[in-house]
Amino acid sequence: MFTTAPARKTPTLGSLPNDLFDAIDILKRELNAVILAHYYQDPDIQDIADYLGDSLGLSRQAAGTNADVIVFAGVHFMAETAKILNPDKLVLLPDLNAGCSLADSCPPDAFAKFKAEHPDHIVVSYINCSAEIKAMSDIICTSSNAVQIVKQIPEDQPIIFAPDRNLGRYVIEQTGRDLLLWQGSCIVHETFSEKRIVQLKIEHPDAEVIAHPECEPPVLRHASYIGSTTALLKYARTSPSQAFIVATEPGIIHQMQKQTPHKHFIPAPATNNCNCNECPFMRLNTLEKLYLAMKNQQPEITLPEHIRLAALRPIQRMLEMSL
Ligand code: 13P
Ligand code: SF4
Repeated sequence: MFTTAPARKTPTLGSLPNDLFDAIDILKRELNAVILAHYYQDPDIQDIADYLGDSLGLSRQAAGTNADVIVFAGVHFMAETAKILNPDKLVLLPDLNAGCSLADSCPPDAFAKFKAEHPDHIVVSYINCSAEIKAMSDIICTSSNAVQIVKQIPEDQPIIFAPDRNLGRYVIEQTGRDLLLWQGSCIVHETFSEKRIVQLKIEHPDAEVIAHPECEPPVLRHASYIGSTTALLKYARTSPSQAFIVATEPGIIHQMQKQTPHKHFIPAPATNNCNCNECPFMRLNTLEKLYLAMKNQQPEITLPEHIRLAALRPIQRMLEMSL
């Protein structure tokens, strides 16, 4: 049921301009485009983005943009959310294979059956899911607002929380609510090695461990701060600590280092000696593919209107509940 990493594909790039940054800038003006990027993207993409953020920030930007074209440098469910909010805009994703193991761990047919078995429950779904799952949900949340949203639901209302069991467990801890969890997870956040994090703590006794709530409990137990990517970035900037062991995708360290060049950021290592702490889906997007997507105005995100309309409602509820 759980997806493995996609193979890195070598794109057919054809001839590319010498200065991609300049060429992208020109296309941006010609198309009246906005580039929205997630913190897990390659540094070049982060540097050229008009807006950089976590899933909640990116959804808010997508909901409020005046651009005609949204170039989404992130993964499929993020670009899809932008399209759900903007049916009349062209939404481009540099590589359509940029999926998400967590979204894939919740197939619509199996989830529909699970939901039907619990008719008295409402469904709160983490935004890392497909449009089909959103369409079956009552409220969407992100790692920024999951606790805040669940706290607003009446105490006697049973809740299914999907698809991330780790974020779900964290929300249970924070709210004291009894959530019925779908057993999905992210291959990246479940790869961190508790043992190697403890070794790093011994080597760097002044370093604080900070972690994304998609990590498993043995890793979260060592964290002095747990939050969404934007929250981790803010914490690293404002904490008096000078060193951090960062238990999330290491792409975010580019921003941490930019905002506080004098601080020391250590990526939390994976269990094996591999670079599987990098999200293989996020990393499918490259500056070259972003340029080509703008030049060719594809790959484009499309979805059936009935799914879009059904998925829009719980996203709007989230935006209203997390003002
Ligand atoms: P954030 O919303 O915290 O940026 O998380 C997105 C994500 O995909 C984490 O793996
Ligand atoms: Fe999905 Fe995990 Fe990649 Fe985030 S890090 S986009 S949850 S696979």
